Amino acid sequence: MQQVEKLVVVGQGYVGLPLAMHGVEAGYEVVGFDVDERRVTELSAGSSFVEDISDARLAAALATGRYQPSADPKALDGFDIAVISVPTPLRDRLPDLSYVETASDIVGASLRPGATVILESTTYPGTTEEVVGPRLQAVAGLVPGVDFHLGYSPERIDPGNPEWTLETTPKVVSGVDDASLGSVQRFYDSVVECTVPVSSPRVAEMCKLLENTFRHVNIALVNELAMFASDLDVDIWEVIGAASTKPFGFMPFTPGPGVGGHCLPIDPSYLSWKVQQSLGTPFRFV
Ligand SMILES: NC(=O)c1ccc[n+]([C@@H]2O[C@H](COP(=O)([O-])OP(=O)(O)OC[C@H]3O[C@@H](n4cnc5c(N)ncnc54)[C@H](O)[C@@H]3O)[C@@H](O)[C@H]2O)c1
Repeated sequence: MQQVEKLVVVGQGYVGLPLAMHGVEAGYEVVGFDVDERRVTELSAGSSFVEDISDARLAAALATGRYQPSADPKALDGFDIAVISVPTPLRDRLPDLSYVETASDIVGASLRPGATVILESTTYPGTTEEVVGPRLQAVAGLVPGVDFHLGYSPERIDPGNPEWTLETTPKVVSGVDDASLGSVQRFYDSVVECTVPVSSPRVAEMCKLLENTFRHVNIALVNELAMFASDLDVDIWEVIGAASTKPFGFMPFTPGPGVGGHCLPIDPSYLSWKVQQSLGTPFRFV
């Protein structure tokens, strides 16, 4: 009989919990690790706070005996695959990687040769190779791409969207070397319908920031236009509807309060910070 692989999902939030559920459904033994003990207690009791994950689905996962929510770092021991999906907020308008760093240290303490570590948190290009890899190496004494596999795969979750789910949305995958890419892709091929390999974690990290910055900029544009249109006595909705009849080169965005979700106002700052930091150039447009 083939041995069941052990998957650890670090961070049981909007990104981590759905991945953990998919992991259980794909046959993995899953540890849903979170430092928030209250969240772990609620999950263990079958109570889901994520709208896309019903209590019934969580209960079914618990009933398999292969989903273990835990706040104990020792529960990570012996893992085959670890996915890090912890917050990447801003602090004083700068990227705050402290959650990723802490999570990397916790994963590193249970890392063994041959295992695979994947970062899913949204972040600036270079994080996987410059921050996560070195921390894992420092804690575990193992070299990424030599002793263990390391990669990055951005999350594209769209809460409440019944058509484009984690399973049906193409997933960009990457690794620090060919073997890492192979391992990362093999894992996601077992939980989603389509994976899209790219040549490096940097490409995958920046891909996510391009997607979110694209939305951010276009929502900002249409919100500003909506205000001008009103002053010019033009119906912005009719304008957008008319423009949307163009079959190429236009994508409709609609005005609304704020700039969309809790990620969009934050993620572009990771990109502009990295550009300023590495190139010394202000990313004025973003
Ligand atoms: N929510 C979305 O729609 C979405 C979409 C795409 C990408 N993302 C990105 O995914 C990442 C996670 O976002 P989220 O929405 O799931 O956040 P979340 O706040 O819903 O969940 C994060 C979880 O991580 C836990 N955590 C923090 N530090 C930890 C540690 N050291 N070890 C274990 N658990 C820890 C927190 O307690 C929390 O339960 C972020 O980088 C975010 O930008 C989110």
